[in-house]
Amino acid sequence: MSESKLRVGVAGLGRAFTLMLPTFLKDPRIQLVSATDPQPLACAQFERDFGAQCVDSVEDLCARSDVQVVYIATPHQLHASHVELAAAKGKHILVEKPMALSLGDCDRMIQAVKRAGTVMVVGHSHSFNAPILRAYDRIRSGEFGSVRMIHSLNYTDFLYRPRRPEELDTEQGGGVIFSQAAHQLDIVRLLGGGLVTSVTARTGAWDPQRPTEGAYSALLSFANGAFASLSYSGYAHFDSDTWMEKVGELGQAKNDVDYGTAKRRLATVQTHEQETALKAARNYGAPDWKSNLDSKLPSKHQHFGPLIISCDKADLRPVPNGLWIDGESESRLFEIPAPIVPRQEVIDELYNAVLFQKPVLHSGAWARATTELSLAILESARGDKTVLPKYQIEPTHSL
Ligand SMILES: NC(=O)c1ccc[n+]([C@@H]2O[C@H](COP(=O)([O-])OP(=O)(O)OC[C@H]3O[C@@H](n4cnc5c(N)ncnc54)[C@H](O)[C@@H]3O)[C@@H](O)[C@H]2O)c1
Repeated sequence: MSESKLRVGVAGLGRAFTLMLPTFLKDPRIQLVSATDPQPLACAQFERDFGAQCVDSVEDLCARSDVQVVYIATPHQLHASHVELAAAKGKHILVEKPMALSLGDCDRMIQAVKRAGTVMVVGHSHSFNAPILRAYDRIRSGEFGSVRMIHSLNYTDFLYRPRRPEELDTEQGGGVIFSQAAHQLDIVRLLGGGLVTSVTARTGAWDPQRPTEGAYSALLSFANGAFASLSYSGYAHFDSDTWMEKVGELGQAKNDVDYGTAKRRLATVQTHEQETALKAARNYGAPDWKSNLDSKLPSKHQHFGPLIISCDKADLRPVPNGLWIDGESESRLFEIPAPIVPRQEVIDELYNAVLFQKPVLHSGAWARATTELSLAILESARGDKTVLPKYQIEPTHSL
C-alpha cells in the first residue's frame, strides 16, 4: 500500500458514485479499498471492478482499518448520520452535496469531525470546476476591482429525470432547491465573497405529478455591496447548455437528437415503483449500467450553466474551455487545457488537507452556509419575505 494514496471506502454506489468514478479511476492518489450499498448488484460490480470487498453496512465500512477516507454518496437525508459514524471511527470524509437538509444536521456533522480531528470536504459541487476556480483566483488578485453583480442561470430537464419518491418530496430533500441550488449557491458565494446578507426568492412547483420545487429565482445581497441573481428551471424546454457551446454539465458534447430524451423515457413508466426501477436500472452494476471504466473522457470542463461576473474593470464568464474576460481594452478567452482527471480539484483539496494539513475551502462551515441559503430560498418564497442569513463565511484560502 503506497503512502501517497488515499485509501477510500465508498458509502453508496449510486449515481453520484458513478459521476465520481472517472475521477477515482484516473487520479493516482486514490485507491478504492471497500464499499457498501444495500443493492447486491452494485456491490458485485464493485468487487469485480476493483477486486475489493464490499461490506454490509456503513458501520462495517467505517470499522475497517484499511479505509482512511469515507466517500459518503448516500441520499441527502443520511449524510449526517453517516458522517457521524465515519468521524467516530477517526476517518476523513468526502461527503456529497447537499451537506444536509437542516442547519441542525450541519452542526452535528461539523461537531463530529471536530471531535475526531479529521478532515471533511463537502463535494463535489460545481464550484470546484477549473474555470470557476480560475475566475475566483483572478478576482482575488484585485486586478478587476470589486465584484459588483453576478448572474447565474441554468435551464435543464432535472425534474423529468427518473427519481426516487423522496427526490420529489421537498421535506425529504427533494426538488431543485437542495440538489441544484447547492451547486449554484456554492459558485455564486465563492465568486461574490461568501458573506450573503439577504435572500429574496420565488420558487415554482408547477407540475402536480411531481409535487416539489422545480424552479426558483433568488436575489442575494453580499456584505461587500455586490448582488447576485440566480435562476434555475428543471422544467425547461430550452436547454441552456446551448449557450455553453453545446457542452453539457459534465463537459460532454451534446447531441441535438437527444432533445427530449428525459420526458420520452419517463413516459414509459406509470407508477413511482416503475420510476424508481427505471432509475435503479441504470445505476452501477444494474442491467442497463453502461460501464464508463474505459470510456473516453470529455475534453471540456464541467459547468453549471451560463454565468457572468461583473467587476469594476471587467466582465468574467467561466466557459467549458476556460475563462472569457471582457476587459477595458480587450475581450479574450483564457483557455484552460482539457482536464486529464475530471473533478481533480476535489481530490486536490481532500489530499492536501489529509496529507499536508492545508485548509479546506469546501469545509463543513462553508457548506453549512450554502445549506443555509437553500433553506432561505424556501423560507423566503413560502413566507413572501426577505431572509437574513446568520452563518455565512468568507472563502478561507487562496488557491
Ligand atoms: N455532485 C454531483 O454531481 C452529484 C450528482 C448526483 C448526486 N449527488 C448527491 O449524491 C447523493 C446520492 O444521490 P444519487 O443521485 O447518487 O442517488 P442514488 O439513489 O442514485 O444512489 C444512492 C445510493 O445509496 C445507496 N444507499 C441507500 N442507503 C444506504 C445505506 N444506508 N448505506 C449505503 N448505501 C446506501 C442506494 O442503494 C443507492 O445505490 C445525494 O446527496 C445527491 O445530492 C451529487
